Amino acid sequence: MTKRLIALLPGDGIGPEVIGEACKVCEAAAEKFGFELEWRRFPFGAAYYLEHGLVLPAAALDEMSECRAMLLGAVGDPRVKPGPLEQGLLLALRFHFDQYMNLRPALSFPNVPTPAALASGRRLDAVVVRENTEDLYMGIGGRGCGVMAEKIEAGRGLYDLSGRLELSFAPAVEGAFSLGLMTRPGIARITRKAGELARARGENKVAVVSKANAVPHLYGFWDEVTRQTFSDEFPDIEPVYVNVDAMCYLLPRNPGGWGVMLCPNLFGDIVSDLLSALAGGLGLAASGNIGDGLSMFEPVHGSAPDIAGSGRANPLAAVMSAAMMLKHIGETEAAAAVEKAVYDYLAGPDKPFELGGRDGVAAVGEKVAALVKTR
Ligand code: NAD
Ligand code: IPM
Ligand code: MN
Repeated sequence: MTKRLIALLPGDGIGPEVIGEACKVCEAAAEKFGFELEWRRFPFGAAYYLEHGLVLPAAALDEMSECRAMLLGAVGDPRVKPGPLEQGLLLALRFHFDQYMNLRPALSFPNVPTPAALASGRRLDAVVVRENTEDLYMGIGGRGCGVMAEKIEAGRGLYDLSGRLELSFAPAVEGAFSLGLMTRPGIARITRKAGELARARGENKVAVVSKANAVPHLYGFWDEVTRQTFSDEFPDIEPVYVNVDAMCYLLPRNPGGWGVMLCPNLFGDIVSDLLSALAGGLGLAASGNIGDGLSMFEPVHGSAPDIAGSGRANPLAAVMSAAMMLKHIGETEAAAAVEKAVYDYLAGPDKPFELGGRDGVAAVGEKVAALVKTR
């Protein structure tokens, strides 16, 4: 029997709750389709950090790289200030494994009443192709009073960046900065992914989300390189440029009118939460961080400390992220069966709390796992 080694990082808050259910559903699919899953569990997150003062030990990266894929819950905890866990763990993994595409499908589901249906009567079937390594997420920045002087070092799959930045204020006010940065090969490779996906979907347009009017250095360059890449390599596909503010206006008014949405890192983060609301909830939004090495699958949502421990988390986003993972590792039948089980569950009489029903996190997982086994 084929054995698949999967790295598991449940993380914080509702992360372990939803990942537990995703694993149950994956096990049901493995049993039905005749393969074996071996989980390699990593304990990182807030509790580990608070106990050891360390976010992500370097040796763990080698252990992770032996796995076929990774399934992650969410990281972030009110006991830890924003940053160390999100940047030091989640973003560090995306950068280390050069997972340069964040794929975030946004779909309408049966029986889920949504603003999408109300606004246009058309199914929501969009997918965010988010650049996942650059933009304001470079992690380069600093602060100071009068003078801000920073040594800069950032490593990416495509390059190492180093140098020194020194800025002075007159008069000496206190300030902080973060550097947004993109490169031609970084933009070109994500544009290719969006072009290939649009072709595979039989579409001839890609929406390119931008903000070149206010931030021309960065997003003007984004527009230039995306446009060039489409015209050189995808003459059959027309890029349609939409400023991110306008996109936040247009999406709720016509949610069914969009297909592939190519986004810089920061706007992709924001637009994907907006899309998840239009689809019915963050608990339905799956994602994959995909690169040429280890890819990592996780729900779009965070650790939701406001509902952690209440049993009210919707695990379907984690379950569908696991389905994306199964597809990625070549278990396409199992992936399709998991997706179908989710649809069948939603089409039935029961619902998760998030959608106004009474099913807690474990009930949802068990019902979906049972549907995988019986169909
Ligand atoms: P969040 O996504 O955790 O929660 C936003 C809202 O959506 C909350 O009201 C929450 O209860 C609800 N929600 C989220 N997932 C749900 C689910 N599966 N079922 C039902 N309701 C759900 O965003 P936030 O509050 O901004 O962030 C909380 C923490 O998570 C922060 O520390 C943040 O940095 C972190 N975070 C981590 C990731 C990740 O690891 N991938 C992603 C986003 C946020
Ligand atoms: C996401 C999250 C992360 C992001 C945070 C936690 C760093 O919001 O995966 O959507 O901004 O990418
Ligand atoms: Mn986000």
